[in-house]
Amino acid sequence: MYKLFFNLVFKRMDPEQAHYLAFRWIRLAARVPVLRTFVAAVLAPRHKELRTEALGLRMHGPFGLAAGFDKNAVAIDGMSMLGFDHIEIGTVTGEPQPGNPKKRLFRLVPDRALINRMGFNNEGSAAVAERLAARKAVFRTTVGVNIGKTKVVPEAEAAADYVKSTERLARHADYLVVNVSSPNTPGLRNLQATESLRPLLTAVREAADRSVTGRRVPLLVKIAPDLADADIDAVADLAVELGLDGIIATNTTIARDGLGLKSSAGLVKETGGLSGAPLKERSLEVLGRLYARVGDRLVLIGVGGIENAEDAWQRILAGATLVQGYSAFIYEGPFWARAIHKGLAARLATSPYATLAQAVGAETRKKAAA
Ligand SMILES: Cc1cc2nc3c(=O)[nH]c(=O)nc-3n(C[C@H](O)[C@H](O)[C@H](O)COP(=O)(O)O)c2cc1C
Repeated sequence: MYKLFFNLVFKRMDPEQAHYLAFRWIRLAARVPVLRTFVAAVLAPRHKELRTEALGLRMHGPFGLAAGFDKNAVAIDGMSMLGFDHIEIGTVTGEPQPGNPKKRLFRLVPDRALINRMGFNNEGSAAVAERLAARKAVFRTTVGVNIGKTKVVPEAEAAADYVKSTERLARHADYLVVNVSSPNTPGLRNLQATESLRPLLTAVREAADRSVTGRRVPLLVKIAPDLADADIDAVADLAVELGLDGIIATNTTIARDGLGLKSSAGLVKETGGLSGAPLKERSLEVLGRLYARVGDRLVLIGVGGIENAEDAWQRILAGATLVQGYSAFIYEGPFWARAIHKGLAARLATSPYATLAQAVGAETRKKAAA
């Protein structure tokens, strides 16, 4: 049904326009109490066995919405209503910015992929903090806040920009993510080098501790799939050394591997980050590598090319405590998060594991023991 609708309506529209239209419908539906209660009753995770504890937080299920979809925190309840159990808002930058010129989002339909060069279009950390402060939550949802660098801020002053956002946003975040992996802000990914990342993460940790009293806000870093293996290990070691809470693997890729030849021919040349199905293999690989390195010392969040419950299950077996998705939502529609949670419950039931927590990393541990 959704696929027919997608082909008849969304596919004919500019991808960014289609995004805003769908977004508007979701927000409107979430404002009507009867409707949102009904939709949430049908779509939100209700499998007791999927209850997850991670980052000191209790969640109904492990599957959430990846950053970039709700950049300004305007649709947390709407997305929660659709069954995403945690919503990562952002990326939010220190200052508001328009992002890159349009067109900047491309659908590679036969490849079930997207290319985007949005460039962190967002209202800035002051406006988003104000919105979060005024928010009256309808559903109990975990809210992650993903922060990044304002484009015009020079690389050398990046830490101050992240600190500014942290001071404004940390108190509203169930967890905070330092995004150093978007390919669409010039120089951003250089911050993944440990000599830059160490002072940056230290400054953000200190700012979060300074600005939030009574609890310690979990801090994670989100990395790119294009890092060399040695650099992945270095970030993992640094995260453990600095007492970070977790790593999100991965952001979009600048590689163009795994794309069908004719399908999206014209679009493959578009600059930006590739997400969706072609990213699956590398994201899974990065995640497994991280788990092999850090084990249970960090919470790993698996994201990149997850299309169905089996993909999400494979991430959990590789080492992810939480999983996220974005691109496949565009192609699969509103029942997607529900299908993933339902499929995960079915897989857990027929697996040798009594709990989801036991399944986390089981495959990677098996490989290491072999
Ligand atoms: C249009 C678009 C915008 C995105 N914006 C952000 C962003 O602002 N911050 C971020 O950390 N990741 C962003 N991402 C990356 C996603 O969070 C995710 O890491 C990536 O798309 C891989 O997951 P997927 O294959 O399920 O889409 C964006 C992705 C897309 C498709």
